[in-house]
Amino acid sequence: MRLIRLPGVFRPPTDTWMLARVLRDEIDGRETSVLDLCTGTGALALSIAQARPDAVVHAVEIDPQALSWTRRNADARVAAGDTPIRLHSGDATDPSLLSDLDGQVDLVVCNPPYVPEGTPVQPEVGEHDPHRAVFSGEDGLDVIRHVVSAAARWLKPGGAVGIEHDDTQGESVPALLSARRVLTDVADHTDLAGRPRFATARRIAP
Ligand SMILES: C[S@@+](CC[C@H](N)C(=O)[O-])C[C@H]1O[C@@H](n2cnc3c(N)ncnc32)[C@H](O)[C@@H]1O
Repeated sequence: MRLIRLPGVFRPPTDTWMLARVLRDEIDGRETSVLDLCTGTGALALSIAQARPDAVVHAVEIDPQALSWTRRNADARVAAGDTPIRLHSGDATDPSLLSDLDGQVDLVVCNPPYVPEGTPVQPEVGEHDPHRAVFSGEDGLDVIRHVVSAAARWLKPGGAVGIEHDDTQGESVPALLSARRVLTDVADHTDLAGRPRFATARRIAP
């Protein structure tokens, strides 16, 4: 999928497309409600909406400049025939975010900022990607901690969550998911180079 991306919005790397593919398999063949947090260009939300036209896909972004690009990409996908997604300006760390979706969501996806503050990054990241899109507190887990607890609140029983993370977080992110009593089947997944890259879990069935 071609997305518009200009300065002020994060560029989705290959790992994110892998996450999208794994997560789309999670929702194959059933009516579904999806929530993409920290959506940036809208890469995850729009690729799921394209693969599953029957899905209701919500996407949340905090940065107004990024959100304006999400809107442009979303409009372009609708013009190309995809189902519209529902865009929300919001903070993934707000404990009351989208509380009307509590217990209603089949799939929560998130490629958040996850690099520990102060970590040296490649020039193309440091010079072009917004700070807030990349860094997330001392251990890189500030946003992910909130996403894990909110996912437990949003998911229907049997629903799944997938979170991209740094390759140094292959134990810490699964540990955050395992610490939630309502989440089960916690697994971590590697990228094409074999590095730990995203974690998944499922809300326990009643
Ligand atoms: C690593 S980028 C990923 C963008 C997109 N999900 C992708 O895969 O290409 C992280 C995005 O999260 C947004 N963001 C950072 N903190 C956020 C927060 N607290 N709530 C919502 N969005 C946030 C940033 O503005 C940025 O667009």
